[in-house]
Amino acid sequence: MKNKKIVIAGGTGFIGNSLIEYFGRDNNIVILSRQKRPASGSITYVPWDGKSLQGWEQALENADLLVNLTGKSVNCRYTARNKQEIFDSRTNATKVLGEAIRTLTHPPKVWINAASATIYRHAEDRPMDEFTGETANDFSVQVCKLWEKTFNDIQLPATRKIVLRIAVTLGWQPGGVMHPYLNLVKFGLGGHQGNGRQMFSWVHVTDVCRMIAWLFEQPTLEGTFNCSAPHPVPNKVFMQTLRKVSGHKIGIPAPAPLLAAGAAIIGTETELLLKSRWVLPTRITQAGFIFEYGHLADAFKDILAHLPRKQYHLW
Ligand SMILES: NC(=O)c1ccc[n+]([C@@H]2O[C@H](COP(=O)([O-])OP(=O)(O)OC[C@H]3O[C@@H](n4cnc5c(N)ncnc54)[C@H](OP(=O)(O)O)[C@@H]3O)[C@@H](O)[C@H]2O)c1
Repeated sequence: MKNKKIVIAGGTGFIGNSLIEYFGRDNNIVILSRQKRPASGSITYVPWDGKSLQGWEQALENADLLVNLTGKSVNCRYTARNKQEIFDSRTNATKVLGEAIRTLTHPPKVWINAASATIYRHAEDRPMDEFTGETANDFSVQVCKLWEKTFNDIQLPATRKIVLRIAVTLGWQPGGVMHPYLNLVKFGLGGHQGNGRQMFSWVHVTDVCRMIAWLFEQPTLEGTFNCSAPHPVPNKVFMQTLRKVSGHKIGIPAPAPLLAAGAAIIGTETELLLKSRWVLPTRITQAGFIFEYGHLADAFKDILAHLPRKQYHLW
């Protein structure tokens, strides 16, 4: 993708920074953010509040691509207040982007809205894909459903809309899950979590960027796509692979009760580690997309190559 105008809402976070790195050299990037930041090269920052029209909508005029990544992180305790903010930050931003687009003379050609592969139920029996996957009704699934419904209810005649159900995204950039996992491995705690049989669906952040670029170029593709690598693994294999690639022989496992205590102390939820996410990217692979990082060991090797050894070793 070259010489395009790409608007990224919620683009200051982990995936947003990766998109800036991936697209920033050859394209003009506009970030909608609650933070005030100075422009830098081809990147400009436009302030918004993620919920009301205040003039920022002009930034979407003539955009080739809009990517919406806005959402309060789910890595927190699920208190009533946090739950509400997790819902509202996603649905308000999605809704107001739709309203903004309707005010434009030249709306974005393509709108890709983040969603989550967590929309599928806890699955230990069979993989879930866009055709045969089943959902459930716990909190995080309810968030995913309302987020997607908000997006799907928006009718835009001139904008091709795509939902990206993103799996746990692996990358070297700050803010992603690799840093906590590498800390565990570094201190000898990189064994499996729970019974280790729960499936771990993952995707390398470069493939998230590549998938966005690829979907942009396919004029006939719209609707829902799983954004997860084609070879998910059980948690035990995920941790084994990480230990092997990072050069650690031993990793003490963390049984579920220990995780519950640890999660309460560090302000997160065990669901993030113990839910069995078994997701396959059937639609995108059928459409011809080829993952650069289909296998976990290759993804880990690439990520560690971007990090200093002290991130995952004590010496
Ligand atoms: N990373 C993953 O593994 C993963 C997996 C599945 C789905 N996703 C989804 O993909 C999206 C991007 O993920 P990410 O890892 O890049 O997330 P992130 O690092 O948490 O960034 C999300 C961005 O959303 C904005 N934001 C946060 N709280 C907000 C609030 N209360 N109201 C309005 N805006 C708010 C922030 O931008 P400003 O501060 O600049 O406004 C932030 O930079 C998220 O919606 C996430 O749920 C991520």
